[in-house]
Amino acid sequence: MMNSLDISEECNNAFDKILKTRRSIRFFRDEIPPKELIEDIINAGLFAPYAGLAVENKEYFRKFIVIPRNTRAMEKIVEITKNIMKVKSEAFKSEMDKNPYLKKKGAAFSKRLELFADKGVLGIGTAPYYIVIAEKRGFPPVQQQSLAHCLENMWLKATSLNLGFHLVSATAQMAEDEDFSRILGIKSGEYEINGCAIGYPKENPSESSRPETKEVINWIK
Ligand SMILES: Cc1cc2nc3c(=O)[nH]c(=O)nc-3n(C[C@H](O)[C@H](O)[C@H](O)COP(=O)(O)O)c2cc1C
Repeated sequence: MMNSLDISEECNNAFDKILKTRRSIRFFRDEIPPKELIEDIINAGLFAPYAGLAVENKEYFRKFIVIPRNTRAMEKIVEITKNIMKVKSEAFKSEMDKNPYLKKKGAAFSKRLELFADKGVLGIGTAPYYIVIAEKRGFPPVQQQSLAHCLENMWLKATSLNLGFHLVSATAQMAEDEDFSRILGIKSGEYEINGCAIGYPKENPSESSRPETKEVINWIK
C-alpha cells in the first residue's frame, strides 16, 4: 500500500494543472452531467477538513442536497430566493440609511441584492445542478470556514472532471428560511449552509492569472 505522503511527480504536476485550470464557470450547456460525477464531487467535499470540536466529532455533520434544474423543487426555490432577497434588500437599504460606513461601502452589495430580488440568483435554476451544503451548527461557530474548505475540494474535483463550477454564496443568507429548509429536508436554524452550481461549461476560460508568488511573500529574517 502507498504511503499517504508518497505523491509522485506526475501527481504533483497534475495537481498544479488542476489548481491553475480552476475558474468560476457561470454559464452551462444544456446537457446534464451524470449522477456518478456529481457523487464523485460530493465525495471530494466529504474529504475536506472539518472542525472536530464544533461538530463534537459526530459522523454525520455535513449534508449535500442536490437540486436539479427543471424540477418542481427548483421552481419553488427560485421563487423563495427572490422573496428572501427582496426582504434582505429592503433591510440592507434601511441599514445603509442609518450607517455612514455602509452607505459608503455597501452600494455595490445593495445593487446586487436588488438584482437578486428581481431576477433571482445566478446558479439557482440556471445550472443543471444547484447543490446546497449544510454543516451542523456548533461551537465555536466556524461552519462557514468549514464549508469553504468543502466547496474548494468540490471545485477542484469538478475541474478535474472537466465540469464547470461556481459558488452561489447567496445561499448562506437563506439558512433561516423555513420554506427553503423544508424543501432541503433540514431543520431551519440547525445548519449553516452554502452552495454551488455545476454543469458542463458553455465556454472554457483561460487559466487563472495571479501576481508573481515572490511579489506577495514577506520572508521574516
Ligand atoms: C467568499 C467568496 C464568495 C464568492 N461568491 C460567488 C458567488 O456567489 N457567485 C459567483 O459566481 N462567484 C463567487 N465567487 C467567485 C469569485 O468571484 C471568483 O473566484 C473570482 O472572481 C476569481 O475568479 P476565478 O474563480 O475564475 O479564479 C466568490 C468567491 C469567494 C472567495
